[in-house]
Amino acid sequence: MSFDLVIKGGTCVTASEMFEADIGIQDGQIAALGTDLSAPDEIDARDKFVMPGGIEAHAHIAQNSATGGMTADDYTSGSISAAFGGNTCIIPFAAQHRGMGVTETLDLYDSRAQGASVLDYSYHLIVSDPTEKVLTEELPAAFKRGITSFKLFMTYDKMLINDAQFLDVLSVAKEHGALTMVHAENAGMIKWMTDRLLAHGLTAPKYHALSHPALAEEEAIHRAICMAKLVDAPLLIVHVSTPEGAALVQNARAAGATIYGETCPQYLFLTREDMDKPGMEGAAFMCSPPLRDKATQDSLWQHIQAGTFDVVSSDHSPYCMDETGKLANGPDAPFTVIANGMPGIGARLPLLFSEGVGKGRLTLPEFVALSSTNAARLYGLLPQKGTLAIGADADIVIWDPAAKGVISAQNQHDNAGYSPFEGWEVTGLPITTLSRGMRVVEQGALHAKAGHGQFLVRAKFDAGSRKGTAVPEQNFDL
Ligand code: URP
Ligand code: ZN
Ligand code: ZN
Repeated sequence: MSFDLVIKGGTCVTASEMFEADIGIQDGQIAALGTDLSAPDEIDARDKFVMPGGIEAHAHIAQNSATGGMTADDYTSGSISAAFGGNTCIIPFAAQHRGMGVTETLDLYDSRAQGASVLDYSYHLIVSDPTEKVLTEELPAAFKRGITSFKLFMTYDKMLINDAQFLDVLSVAKEHGALTMVHAENAGMIKWMTDRLLAHGLTAPKYHALSHPALAEEEAIHRAICMAKLVDAPLLIVHVSTPEGAALVQNARAAGATIYGETCPQYLFLTREDMDKPGMEGAAFMCSPPLRDKATQDSLWQHIQAGTFDVVSSDHSPYCMDETGKLANGPDAPFTVIANGMPGIGARLPLLFSEGVGKGRLTLPEFVALSSTNAARLYGLLPQKGTLAIGADADIVIWDPAAKGVISAQNQHDNAGYSPFEGWEVTGLPITTLSRGMRVVEQGALHAKAGHGQFLVRAKFDAGSRKGTAVPEQNFDL
């Protein structure tokens, strides 16, 4: 058998096992896993880990912010940063703003993404205006285009939908085999806290964290899970930031509901004390849900180890610290009109590897599951992406477990101009990223051009044998 490229002598890691093998790649796909494979082009992977490339399944790229302005990254810079960070696939959001149709939204994001990404990509659709036409025509049409996941918001005035609308979208998603994702925070609690803070003149960025209490997340996650159970639809709670929220996910799953969970590095590595900075500097660390505290970090790590979370995503939401981004509403703007989010698409995997695998919190297969395989399964990409198997795309990352680095804005390759993880020392780094067998990044240099990345038509959501539990009231013949 002849190959275009062989990765030789590495330790292959999948979500279920580790084994020594060469990987033969032909026409962009894994063609063989074996010994003594050879090709005119070979990569020496001795003493390295060879894994499925990361799938970044929560990123805001070329997206208009709810407070005005645009993310600092477009599909080129966002995907390049992702590739340097060991990812081979990205799934950012296509955001429907009120008054926009879904088809119009997807066309807009197509125009932003086509020819721009260095990595294969898809979108999750954000639904903020579920009109009758959206529910009956446009969502099913989006699904037919292979966009099989949707995000809903329970907060943000310009994005939130009410509970009845939530149930409508869940029902459509269930009917068509799509996965609903939810940003779960109680809008009323946030508004009430915000009004009190503003009434006391407390407008600095650090007060953003107080305005989004942990209870707002707990209440909304509980409500979201109840709605998913009423419809018996699968639901993924994104960016869980509290122990209470994580416990709700864990308990719902244990009780048989098709509930999934995601958390993010910022909740594992940063605290709200990082926001306590002079002037507007704290705005760099503003995100929703907000940063919490050290006890929360410890609890979220325990939940990762217990299997509560299926994915650890970056929630990359890059805004520059200037008038194009965080300060679009003025140099002294109150926290209420500062764009939420922070960059992190390039730092996600080095941090998770170093602090997870390196510190004995995660096994290597668990790292692969959390960074790649579970996202591929949830979002309809397995087995094309997210695994090392014959016939899978050769989307592969080679890690040097001994390489040391320091995270810094200068080595993140994004456009935000800062990194919230500045100065973090990491051991273990991705040294080569292959997309469909092509070197995208090798030894610190970019080799792919914008446009290498292709749009991915994703399969239906498949819960496998996990069927959920119907509630009796849904049976009208009772
Ligand atoms: O603060 C964040 N994470 N902003 C991005 C939008 C979102 O809700 O994920
Ligand atoms: Zn969100
Ligand atoms: Zn987000």
